[in-house]
Amino acid sequence: PLYDWNASSPLCCSSWWAGVQMGPPDPILGVTEAFKRDTNPKKMNLGVGAYRDDQGKPFVLDCVRKAEALISSKQLDKEYLAIGGLGDFTKSCAQLALGADSEVLKSGRNITVQTISGTGSLRIGANFLSRFHSASRDVYLPTPSWGNHTPIFRDAGMQLKAYRYYDPSTCGFDFKGTLDDISKMPERSVILLHACAHNPTGVDPKPEQWKEIADLVKKRDLLVFFDMAYQGFASGDIDRDAWAVRHFIEQGHNIVLSQSFAKNMGLYGERVGGLTLVCKDAEEAKRVESQLKILIRPIYSNPPMNGARIAATILNTTELYNIWLEEVHCMANRIIKMREQLAANLKSEGSTHNWEHVTDQIGMFCFTGLKPDQVERLTKEFSVYMTKDGRISMAGVTSGNVGYLAHGIHAVTK
Ligand SMILES: Cc1ncc(COP(=O)(O)O)c(C=O)c1O
Repeated sequence: PLYDWNASSPLCCSSWWAGVQMGPPDPILGVTEAFKRDTNPKKMNLGVGAYRDDQGKPFVLDCVRKAEALISSKQLDKEYLAIGGLGDFTKSCAQLALGADSEVLKSGRNITVQTISGTGSLRIGANFLSRFHSASRDVYLPTPSWGNHTPIFRDAGMQLKAYRYYDPSTCGFDFKGTLDDISKMPERSVILLHACAHNPTGVDPKPEQWKEIADLVKKRDLLVFFDMAYQGFASGDIDRDAWAVRHFIEQGHNIVLSQSFAKNMGLYGERVGGLTLVCKDAEEAKRVESQLKILIRPIYSNPPMNGARIAATILNTTELYNIWLEEVHCMANRIIKMREQLAANLKSEGSTHNWEHVTDQIGMFCFTGLKPDQVERLTKEFSVYMTKDGRISMAGVTSGNVGYLAHGIHAVTK
């Protein structure tokens, strides 16, 4: 035989990947692994950013179940979608973000493609910038930002830069630091902004502050990339949460926008998202569209259909849309309530620290201000799991465990 597979020849031990080093585990998924191993019945996993109901269970929205039933009854085929995705979805996706009466939509100067949730949207957007935004490679991220922003833009070939955003001394927004840093950004750089419910800090600029940011960004002639992963999740109101995005557009910013339906429709694993580029005019939008297709085609050819069908059905069926609005509101409200209860419980535990930021911050996450050693104690002594930066997912807090959490936090911050 040409090759004896059973022989213990050195050849069969040779490897292509001997030089591959073991990489570090994902910081958030690592928290879940440790949580699973813990046998304490009171354990809490506050690492993962997925909504839980007040019983701590994953939550499938009623409007999603109804949309699934409707889709199933239609016995639709499973042909490939277009490269840019499902038209019914992309149209209503852009409408949700920009508002039904948006001038941009009326003049057809946007291009919106369906993407593999928010992550896929950011990556396709980053790839597009890398290929076509020749004026600058620099992308400015807030400090801190969602952990995945860095590798997404870096792997796409962009240069990572940072601007001040969070002020640890107040656990709030560093407005002055943000403005100072923006004023120094080289013209035509890219700035990434979290549209609402900033992850990981839960700290958002107020409308007046957004206005100043928009003006300054315009003066610096920066290209704005909005990441909107939580529309509706911050305040419970989809229009209020889209305010910053719409304001920038009204002020003449031709933004790039990433949207995710993971949180606000609970479609996490369905991977539904959208990428929008607002262009100068419809002709430019057509050219950009053609290049987006060329970019997407060799990566995943075309996006998956199931989640997009669900989202499109909800967005385009009045009855389901109204149920959805109520359910988003409910999810956001439960989180806001948990923030209030956490702060109240900390007070009744006797904590004298200022916990106002717990209720001032918004969205899924609370940046507690706990130091790494306090986080470690909370995990070791109370089986409360969270990321080392002190971020907790408020979605994992329930009326049943908020008292226990406050007790633990007080114990390690006394
Ligand atoms: C700020 C931010 N952007 C984008 C995403 C993308 O999430 P997905 O890819 O699940 O839509 C997330 C999810 O945690 C996020 O927090």
